[in-house]
Amino acid sequence: MWRATVLTLFPEMFPGPLGVSLMGKALNDQLWALEVRDIRAHGIGRHRTVDDSPSGGGPGMVMRADVAAVAIDAARAGETESRPLIYLSPRGKPLTQARVRELAAGPGVLLFCGRFEGLDERAIEARGMEEISLGDFVLAGGEIAGMALIEAAVRLLPGVMGEEASKTEESFEEGLLEYPQFTRPQSFEGRDIPPVLSSGNHAQIARWRRAEAERLTKERRPDLMTLYENRPRSARRPGSSAKSPPDGRKK
Ligand SMILES: C[S@@+](CC[C@H](N)C(=O)[O-])C[C@H]1O[C@@H](n2cnc3c(N)ncnc32)[C@H](O)[C@@H]1O
Repeated sequence: MWRATVLTLFPEMFPGPLGVSLMGKALNDQLWALEVRDIRAHGIGRHRTVDDSPSGGGPGMVMRADVAAVAIDAARAGETESRPLIYLSPRGKPLTQARVRELAAGPGVLLFCGRFEGLDERAIEARGMEEISLGDFVLAGGEIAGMALIEAAVRLLPGVMGEEASKTEESFEEGLLEYPQFTRPQSFEGRDIPPVLSSGNHAQIARWRRAEAERLTKERRPDLMTLYENRPRSARRPGSSAKSPPDGRKK
């Protein structure tokens, strides 16, 4: 079973959103498992201290390397499969759908959630932690970033989502953002569903969706579009072209 172990100073934050809807049902159905470990249980002295002032001065506090290392070693004790040890950090590599897919295909993850000014660099090095960021912004702690990573991976696990196809047509799965979605009513505040989507012509619908996905990616994420355009031609779907006009787009 895919397992997520979370090391945190705030275990009461879990399962939180991971306990409801799709995630919660999958957790109850034992399609994945969640273990939450309190870093403070490994704190030093009577006060279970986990942090200290930054070497060299400056504001805030830093999580101690020795406490973090003991907490990680205790979480790993008796492990038969080695799971990636990830430190959620704004300095990390941005999380991508490709990395999420790799993590979902493995045995699970061990996540370390930072707080304060972050974790002593020596713990990151000594335990070979992979640093992953949720984006170019600063959160108060790694917990919400960890939940996001877990949710992104768990929804890809077999049996968690109803329609397997929906996973492959989503944003990022083919290097593009997803095409626009519509549903009833046919007309909403003077805006109609693009006629091509009601045509019943599946080839035309697929071409329209592809063209819209390319248009949106080009407009909103030129960085992704460049990567997509430089992919080997064999990796693209037939009929794919960044230049083809979307048949049913509203002018
Ligand atoms: C207030 S932040 C520390 C920020 C750090 N002083 C810096 O400037 O890079 C505390 C913790 O929140 C988590 N965190 C903050 N922003 C994050 C992000 N964008 N992605 C992942 N984790 C983040 C990390 O675990 C971090 O150790």
